[in-house]
Amino acid sequence: MTLNPSADVVTRELRGKVLLVTIDHAPVNALSADVRRGLLAAIEAADADKAVEAVLIVGAGRNFIAGADIREFGKPPVPPSLPDVCNRIEACSKPVVAAIHGAALGGGLEVALAAHYRLAVNGAKLGLPEVQLGLLPGAGGTQRTPRLIGAQAALELILSGRHASAKEALALGLIDRFGSSDDILAEGLAYAHELLAAHAPVRRTRDAAALSDRAASLAAVATARAETAKKSRGLFSPLKIVDAVEAAIEQPFDEGLRLERKLFLECIDSPQRAGLIHAFFAEREVLKAPETRDAKPRALNKIGVVGGGTMGAGIAVAVLDAGLPVTMIERDDESLARGRAHIEKVYDGLIAKGRMSAEEKADVMTRWQGSTSYDALADADLVIEAVFEDLSVKKAVFAELDRVCKAGAVLATNTSYLDIDAIAASISRPADVIGLHFFSPANIMKLLEVVVPKQVSADVVATAFELAKKLRKTPVRAGVCDGFIGNRVLAVYRSAADAMMEDGASPYQIDAAVRAFGFPMGPFQVVDLAGGDIGWAARKRRAATRNPNARYVQIADRLCERGWFGQKTGRGFYLYPEGSRSGAPDPEVEAIIDAERERAGITPRTFTDEEIMRRYMAAMINEGANVLHEGIALRPLDVDVTFLYGYGFPRYRGGPMKYADTVGLATVLADIREFAKEDPLFWRASPLLVDLVERGANFASLNQSA
Ligand code: 3HC
Ligand code: NAI
Repeated sequence: MTLNPSADVVTRELRGKVLLVTIDHAPVNALSADVRRGLLAAIEAADADKAVEAVLIVGAGRNFIAGADIREFGKPPVPPSLPDVCNRIEACSKPVVAAIHGAALGGGLEVALAAHYRLAVNGAKLGLPEVQLGLLPGAGGTQRTPRLIGAQAALELILSGRHASAKEALALGLIDRFGSSDDILAEGLAYAHELLAAHAPVRRTRDAAALSDRAASLAAVATARAETAKKSRGLFSPLKIVDAVEAAIEQPFDEGLRLERKLFLECIDSPQRAGLIHAFFAEREVLKAPETRDAKPRALNKIGVVGGGTMGAGIAVAVLDAGLPVTMIERDDESLARGRAHIEKVYDGLIAKGRMSAEEKADVMTRWQGSTSYDALADADLVIEAVFEDLSVKKAVFAELDRVCKAGAVLATNTSYLDIDAIAASISRPADVIGLHFFSPANIMKLLEVVVPKQVSADVVATAFELAKKLRKTPVRAGVCDGFIGNRVLAVYRSAADAMMEDGASPYQIDAAVRAFGFPMGPFQVVDLAGGDIGWAARKRRAATRNPNARYVQIADRLCERGWFGQKTGRGFYLYPEGSRSGAPDPEVEAIIDAERERAGITPRTFTDEEIMRRYMAAMINEGANVLHEGIALRPLDVDVTFLYGYGFPRYRGGPMKYADTVGLATVLADIREFAKEDPLFWRASPLLVDLVERGANFASLNQSA
């Protein structure tokens, strides 16, 4: 008998003596206001109805409940609140059972914790990932979890935000029973009926006793607090999580809940929450490029890689790690052996760390094939070229690919800067040519710029997105220009950093300011890591076409002329004694900078860290706006994801365009106009930025309209 036949997001149905409450709110049963209302009404109904002796809560579709509805955060709250719903579930006078399959995350797990008995099946994911959104569990999670599984385990779960499997949840004491079949409904009903037959009592998590060893619990809190203070650089919510769990030990349940609520609301109000939630949606939105909607990907069973250097080898590892076979082409046997050795080195590193066995490596390497003949690529579905960054060399490689590859093969280039339209136009099948710009190390870095040339067919673009999925990369669609999205914007804020260095800031101060903003490294540390010679070669290549009126800071060239290319040569902007990877400031570099300032006729001035970041970010935002204005990036969020995944931009700030909205575009534009007084050629406000400010709009409005 269905008690509320209207198509509702929470339905109720009496199954014998058990009221089956099903949450059916696609895509992931998030706890929107409707769902909260429906849950509350279901519990009220269960309490009021004599025919009901127990309640079973399940989720329809692939998940139990993915958590609070993230889209509601930042908007005015709509009752009933989730904590009230959880408290009402817990207060139910009849046993409430939660049967979990798929995700029981955040508020979803909190609903389950408010139930009196919990069951989960294989494939269930239980966790409190709020910390990843700049939050803490705000519906009793910080109070019920430690009471149920102890302070130490609760802190670990909440601070990491990780997912536990059903089996682990059982071992932790988070659930009572593991259901071995996939039929969640049958498992849940069987459990509920068993509990009824055994006259199992209502059993409330608020009364659970896992915190009874007070001293041990407080010691766990002290340890977590010390570790969190060290590790959670700049993050707002982790220490608040520790405070809330401490309250679970020190205070009665209701007091603890009150503190949790207060801390949760503080987190909701923090810009970090807005930044992290922007990142959550942005990394899902980037997958929805127009071509992925309109076209089907081609087959992807055999992959070719041309070039076995830094990138070719890294890309090959990424492909092998995805379980696909790879054929590598090199110039000669010696280079091929080097390419193979690069790959083996990655796996040997894993073996040394105990993360792979020799047998597993041998197994992976059976999927690798090498050749010096392009004919070996005849049956490849997709080939990625990663040879020297030289247009004529690349065109020669593409001529070979055009000759040997089967019809329909996707031909990709990993070029960093070169004109992919020109590469495509040089062969007989330009519609099959695309850019796949990986980042170094290619087997580790998550970003993949999918560079879409003029003549490419939509299904080739869709295939590139499909490859990204198989390689577990985050793809961002970019257009063809010098440097695409990421490297083009990088070149501009690097120039801003160079100018500040010549004007008086030390590279060490600039790096420290950038780190304090939240990047893992400053720009000069990045140069030292990547190798100063790479940028030097690019600068030499561009020397002939550079605007002679543009400011050109020569300090990096002076270092390169001395062979100081960074970590690999033991010195660059920093000194790396005996192969050390953390650099020390170098007085000789400072002397070179002084000499360069003198040569350029500059009287050095001081910069505050705040001034440094204003310039650094204004340069990044302005060029991001140009990239959007020209259609190189489709939406501001594409620029954001590029920087979050490829350039170490602090996730809690959401990306450069989100950050710009946070600061206010009028403020950024005013900064640019102020800096333009010194160097009007460099600081030219992007037309898009000017237009947005004039209209009183922000970048977020462009994310919505695209
Ligand atoms: N609220 C609103 N929308 C959500 C959502 C949520 N909690 N979780 C996922 N979605 C949306 C996604 O944006 C996506 O929308 P789209 O189709 O329009 O792009 C859709 O649901 C499907 O999501 P995924 O593509 O991520 O689907 P997967 O199957 O790959 O993953 C998942 C499912 C594991 C549930 C994953 O979506 C996930 O991790 N979600 C977030 C879980 C989470 O962080 N929960 C905690 C929320 S905060 C909270 O609960 C506070 C509380 O303590 C008070
Ligand atoms: P690399 O110099 O380490 O490797 C290039 C490899 O290509 C060498 O092993 C060389 O033997 C091989 N090669 C050259 N001509 C060939 C040919 N005709 N046929 C077959 N093999 C040939 O260079 P790296 O760093 O791997 O760069 C490769 C490409 O990737 C370049 O286009 C570069 O711009 C791009 N890239 C580089 C990144 C980096 O951080 N190094 C990041 C992203 C892209």
